[in-house]
Amino acid sequence: MADKVWIFDTTLRDGEQSPGYSMNLDEKLQMAAMLDDMGVDIIEAGFPAASKGDFESVFKVSQQTKKATVAGLCRAVRKDIEAVIEATKPAKKRRIHTFISTSPLHMKHKLQMEPSRVLEMIEDSVSYARKHCDDVEWSAEDATRTEHDFLCRAVETAIHAGATVVNIPDTVGYTIPDEYFELIKMLTLRVPNIDKAIISTHCHNDLGLAVANSLAGVEAGARQVECTVNGIGERAGNAAMEEVVMTFRTRHDKLPFVTGIDSKKITAASRLLSKITGFSVQPNKAIVGANAFAHESGIHQDGMLKHAGTYEIMTPESVGRDKTDLVLGKHSGRNAFRSKLLLLKIDLNEEELNAAFARFKDLADRKKKISDDDLLLIVSSKGGMPSERISFVSLAVRSGSVGPQEAELEIALDGQKKKAKAAGKGPVDACFKAMKVLVPHEDATLFNYELKALTQGSDAKGEVNIQLSEKGQIYHGDGVDTDVIVASCRAYIDALNRLLAAHSVRA
Ligand code: KIV
Ligand code: ZN
Repeated sequence: MADKVWIFDTTLRDGEQSPGYSMNLDEKLQMAAMLDDMGVDIIEAGFPAASKGDFESVFKVSQQTKKATVAGLCRAVRKDIEAVIEATKPAKKRRIHTFISTSPLHMKHKLQMEPSRVLEMIEDSVSYARKHCDDVEWSAEDATRTEHDFLCRAVETAIHAGATVVNIPDTVGYTIPDEYFELIKMLTLRVPNIDKAIISTHCHNDLGLAVANSLAGVEAGARQVECTVNGIGERAGNAAMEEVVMTFRTRHDKLPFVTGIDSKKITAASRLLSKITGFSVQPNKAIVGANAFAHESGIHQDGMLKHAGTYEIMTPESVGRDKTDLVLGKHSGRNAFRSKLLLLKIDLNEEELNAAFARFKDLADRKKKISDDDLLLIVSSKGGMPSERISFVSLAVRSGSVGPQEAELEIALDGQKKKAKAAGKGPVDACFKAMKVLVPHEDATLFNYELKALTQGSDAKGEVNIQLSEKGQIYHGDGVDTDVIVASCRAYIDALNRLLAAHSVRA
């Protein structure tokens, strides 16, 4: 039987402490529900003494949580501990998590306390917490820079006072895997009552080692890992939950541990957090980044098409992602190009395929990423470069504070110039209405419109990205111009060209 490792998620406490990541009550409740549903064992919901808002969110998370234990953080002072007791009252299962610094640097400069006083505070805080709750976690802040003899005494004191979990944080992300392994091992060998508590890891990522250190801690005897979704947290963040969980699953041969996490919910949790905080993860982020299961080079794509195991150590489905993404770009080969077309239900004969592949390579040299609708454009063009049936000719608008605004748009469709006038709610709306008159496309709707400045100053170039949606298919369009209304028309024309190309390919 593999040993269970308890997952203690601190996305809502340590994670929320990172600049720009604060969440409102409703967002915290959404995230907590997700964590509970995916099988997190302990949800650290906040620091109730820190603010009224924190107190309320710990209280509400306690009310709604069905399976997980809800923990609240507190300093080693009674008023803080009482705040956790009150805030976690509605929880089915709750934990008081109290901490104090143990390193010489922190004791001298931050606490301004003698080590003997720190030991007294550990005894006092943990025993007080334990009177009110059977589940008490004690943390030695800055444990990895603490003298070993003192750390052993502090841990022994906490367990003697009633701590059921002892957490050994690498608060400043300073340790390295071998050293952290030795530290945890040392505690298992030297603290006489260590068998009465679970040892926990809590590693920060300042040197990019948080997950490696946490795993080393587990190998040495820890059975709880503190972590966060997407690895968010103070400074460089905490150990990323998805990485810890998937390492146990993928390298079970070397790390025979199990967690209660339903790994298929990992992607949804990551995306929910990104949506709530407005920070997406970097594309190459392990497990949850956009490129984590994407393959672009020809050799890799060829391997993947023959056997997924060639370049994937876990399946995208195992973390709740749709499927492996063969991204077409300048490194892609003919085999991947053909497979992607088949996925788009386009079956070309050898001759057509060769010609389309040559056009694709030509475009890929000039464009970073080739989207599905680019492929449709490539295939629809009979020779040379992708054909664009519509091109922009001219635009005149009447805009201003008194509506309706009007646009007179001229385009060339298959080489024939055409002009139309329309009124709308704003000049962009008027332009798009004129476009509908010139090239009817009743089944398509504007799905997304984004405008951003590419350069600075009042003469900045504006870039418009739009998406047209038709029968569940999305067509992208980009346009750049110093006049944002012209940029909008160019973007619309770009998207419409892709839509027309798709019609001709699928006709
Ligand atoms: O990093 C740390 O030391 C902490 C403790 C409060 C557990 O977050
Ligand atoms: Zn921390």
